[in-house]
Amino acid sequence: MAILLYNIKELFGIHPANEILRGSALANLPSIKNAYVIVEGEQIAAFGRMDELKHKPNDFNESLDATGRLMLPSWCDSHTHLVFAGSREGEFVDKIKGLSYADIAAKGGGILASAKKLAEASEDDLFVQSYKRLQEIISLGTGAVEIKSGYGLSVESELKMLRVIKRLKGAAKIPIKSTFLGAHAFPTEYKEAKEDYIKLIIEKMLPQIAAEGLADYVDAFCEEGFFTTEQTERICLAGKAYGLKPKLHVNQLNSIGGIQTGVKVDAVSLDHLETMTDDDIEILSKAKNTVGTLLPSAAFFLRMNYQPARKMIDAGCAVALASDFNPGSSPSGNMNFVVALSCIQLRMLPEEAVNAATLNGAAAMELQHEAGSIATAKKANLLLTKPVPGLAYLPYSFGNNLLERIMLCGDWK
Ligand code: NIG
Ligand code: FE
Repeated sequence: MAILLYNIKELFGIHPANEILRGSALANLPSIKNAYVIVEGEQIAAFGRMDELKHKPNDFNESLDATGRLMLPSWCDSHTHLVFAGSREGEFVDKIKGLSYADIAAKGGGILASAKKLAEASEDDLFVQSYKRLQEIISLGTGAVEIKSGYGLSVESELKMLRVIKRLKGAAKIPIKSTFLGAHAFPTEYKEAKEDYIKLIIEKMLPQIAAEGLADYVDAFCEEGFFTTEQTERICLAGKAYGLKPKLHVNQLNSIGGIQTGVKVDAVSLDHLETMTDDDIEILSKAKNTVGTLLPSAAFFLRMNYQPARKMIDAGCAVALASDFNPGSSPSGNMNFVVALSCIQLRMLPEEAVNAATLNGAAAMELQHEAGSIATAKKANLLLTKPVPGLAYLPYSFGNNLLERIMLCGDWK
């Protein structure tokens, strides 16, 4: 079953290597004008310039004339919490009235409010809610995604979340990575016995999760009022002993040493990064294996300062973009908006934003060998735009749906 996509106005994201793009390399988004792509089975079989195409459209089982349209690799969203129960729009209104994220957390809202709802939901109900969200982000162009636990906060509920993620992996066409985030918040009953909760994570949750093969990564919310750097480090080391590499929430509200800790434990990615000192940026720029994942829609939704993307890129950091889809700080998994926001507010160039939301996003979940760029033998997860003037039109025309068709593993969605 071969498919030909031809007369593509411009084909973007031609990165042959499984590399991580850092610093000035991020602005290089190789493209071919007037291009074709041949898809065979689930993979990209060939691509190139129209004047070099040796076949005719009729030689293929299916062909599509993409005149006027751009083609890109699908978005790779490397940080989401899309398994959750219900919603928290009440807090959203509280925030409009002036309460801060920390105020809401302090009065039992926030993560703990979602944990309560999740504890009450059955695994099947949670699966149905989450599957809908997954379909929603796929229809918005996401072709690979990471999903975290962290609204369980008990052995039973964390396992329930991770089992739902496992079921999503089986039910969805796109690659999914699973992250154990037991260290998202201290449950109320452990507020005065924090060490006991750390013990529960390390001695009860991790062994069961590993035994059932329920997670690929381990995460912790390293933040004032949440998990200290010392606790974060212990959890990461315990996770690593079970083969789970760290991917961490750091430097969202405060700079408390999360970057140093994350680099020390050789994290795959360090995420959020709204609050970065010059030292933090320098340390991250030197970490060869660690991607800095920016979550601008969380900063947008919480009305925080945006991530210092320009400083980070100019310092040589490897930067990815992700949605942070969750009910408290980013109730949207729309990567088109994340890309637009990164250009509008973080002053990333459209090319940098696309690279950060595709190949570097893939690298932030170790999927760069199969996703995130146009290369032969990679998954045919492709975005075809509506007719548009050029790449910059996508973030410029923010909020409009400019995707015409989406291909996942060689099938039109
Ligand atoms: O990534 N910062 C910590 N965790 C989530 C928010 C969780 C919530 O508010 O439900 C985040 O922004
Ligand atoms: Fe998050």
